[in-house]
Amino acid sequence: MWKLSGLLLAAPVLWPQSPKYQIGRAPLDTDLKERDISVLAGGRGLPPGSGTAAAGKDVYSRRCQKCHGNSGQGGEEGPALVGGKGSLATPKPVKTVGSYWPHATTLFDYTRRAMPFNRPGTLSNDEVYSSSAYVLFLNGIIGENDVMDAKTLPAVKMPNRDGFIKDARPDTSARGATKRAPVPHPAKSGP
Ligand code: HEC
Repeated sequence: MWKLSGLLLAAPVLWPQSPKYQIGRAPLDTDLKERDISVLAGGRGLPPGSGTAAAGKDVYSRRCQKCHGNSGQGGEEGPALVGGKGSLATPKPVKTVGSYWPHATTLFDYTRRAMPFNRPGTLSNDEVYSSSAYVLFLNGIIGENDVMDAKTLPAVKMPNRDGFIKDARPDTSARGATKRAPVPHPAKSGP
């Protein structure tokens, strides 16, 4: 019986989010903070902390190497993080952080959000900065002792930063549509 009264006592605190269905509760600030981990390309959202490749070598060997190989070449359990430079315009493009990713900040966001693959969310911010630094170092993009933090990481120039074109959509504005020549519908354009 005490269990039931415990629930009843707790009820006013966990007010339902949906008055209609009486389920859920309004998110607390701490809930939102835990989930608000997006880092944008320009670096917005990067947390305090820092790391170097020199420090990241140890993090990498303990937390990443098993799947991504001792020098980031990839393995049975994880893709390559290094290499592929100059391969993008060939028939066999090798897309890695080094050859393909336009922003170094994505490496922080992705690693913090999703890596290690088997235990995401278990790295400290310093460990994310330093393992990111190590991956950038393995790609020859930064030096071993370059400090990566909320200021320096967005300033790293990735080799493929200018390799993307802006998506022109939406291209369906009414004005544009009237100007364009009509495109024959395949079903109607036959004999
Ligand atoms: C248990 C295996 C495993 C471990 C440990 C691991 N990863 Fe991964 N990693 C993966 C797999 C699998 C993928 C591909 C995931 C996908 O495509 O959805 C991946 C993808 C990535 C990518 C994206 C690569 C790309 O170009 O798409 C990065 C960056 C990365 N991992 C970094 C790390 C770092 C840094 C660590 C250590 C802190 C780490 N990973 C630890 C398995 C692992």
